[in-house]
Amino acid sequence: MTDQSQMPNSDLLDRVLVLEMVRVTEAAAIAAAKLIGRGDEDAADAAAVEAMRASLNKLYIDGTVVIGEGERDEAPMLYIGEKVGTGEGKAPKIDIALDPLEGTTITAKAGPNALAVLAIAEEGNLLNAPDVYMDKMAVGPGYSPDIIDLDKSVRENVEAVANEKGVSPADIIVCVLDRPRHEKLITELRKIGCGIMLIPDGDVAGVIATTDEDTTVDMYMGSGGAPEGVLAAAALRCVGGQFKGRLLFRNDDERARAAKWGIEDLDKIYDLKELAKGDCIFAATGVTDGSLLDGVKKLRRGVMTTESVVMRASSGTVRWVKGEHRT
Ligand code: FBP
Repeated sequence: MTDQSQMPNSDLLDRVLVLEMVRVTEAAAIAAAKLIGRGDEDAADAAAVEAMRASLNKLYIDGTVVIGEGERDEAPMLYIGEKVGTGEGKAPKIDIALDPLEGTTITAKAGPNALAVLAIAEEGNLLNAPDVYMDKMAVGPGYSPDIIDLDKSVRENVEAVANEKGVSPADIIVCVLDRPRHEKLITELRKIGCGIMLIPDGDVAGVIATTDEDTTVDMYMGSGGAPEGVLAAAALRCVGGQFKGRLLFRNDDERARAAKWGIEDLDKIYDLKELAKGDCIFAATGVTDGSLLDGVKKLRRGVMTTESVVMRASSGTVRWVKGEHRT
C-alpha cells in the first residue's frame, strides 16, 4: 500500500482522489435525481448538498470549500470556508469548488444538462470567486493562444475563430444562456448569421460543450455565475480549450464581496490558469441527460445507473465512469 505521507501533493491529487471525486459527485447526483421533475428546486438542491457533504466528510482530506453554496450566514452546509474531510491538519490541504446541483431549475423541470460538479486543487489554487455574475467566453482546443478576447467585439471574436477553423463566420455555432440580458449579444450573433444554441440553464455544461466536436458548439458567450465560471475553467484546464472571464458587479454590495475575497482589480480579465492554477481535478456526474453525460437512471430491482467524467489537468487524463448502484 502506498505511504501517503511520502507522496508529493500532486501525486496524491491523482492517485488517491481521482475516483473518490466521482463517488462524491455520484452521491449528489443520485440524491438529486429522486427529485427530477418534481417542481421543487430547493428540495433537489438540498438533497444534493447533503449527499455531497456526507461523501466529502468520509474522505481522508483536509479540504476547504472555496466555492460552495454561499457564505456561512446564508448556507448551512458546504458554505465557503467550511472544512470537510477526516484529515484536518494531517492530510493534504485541498481547496474545493463545488456545485452539488448545477441546474436546480432544470432538475425541477426535468430538462437537460443538470450536473453534480466539483473541482479540487492544492490550497490557494482556485479563484475564490464571489457569487456575482461573470462575463464568459470560451472556445474548444486547437486554436492559437488568446484567440478570444473579451475586450474585442462579438464579431471580431467570431471572425477570428471562423478564420482559424476555416469556415465562414455564419457557420460558427455559439452557445448562450437564454436570458433577456443577452438580447444585444443575440442580435449581434444573428447579424453575423451564427447558429445560436440557447440553453435554459447550466452554463458549466455549455462551456464544456465547446470542447466536444459532437456537440457542434464552437464558442460559448455571455454572462452567468462566477462560481460556475471557475468550475468550467477547471474542466477546460484538463481537456484543453480557452476561457476568459470578467467579474460583473451590479452594486456596491457585490463590489464589497469581491474586496472581501481579496479581489482588487474589478475589471480584470481572468484566463484559465488564473481561475484554476496548478494541478486540478474536475469531476461531474449527470443528473439529467445532457450533452456531456447521461443522467441518473432508475432500473428495475433498485438498480440505479450513473455516468460521470473525471479529468486531471497535469496529465490531461479523462476518465468516463459508468456506475451501477444497488441499494
Ligand atoms: P443554479 O443551479 O444555481 O440554478 O444555476 C444554474 C445557472 O444556469 C448556471 O449554470 C448559470 O451560471 C447561472 O444559473 C446563471 O444565472 P441566472 O439564472 O441568474 O441567469
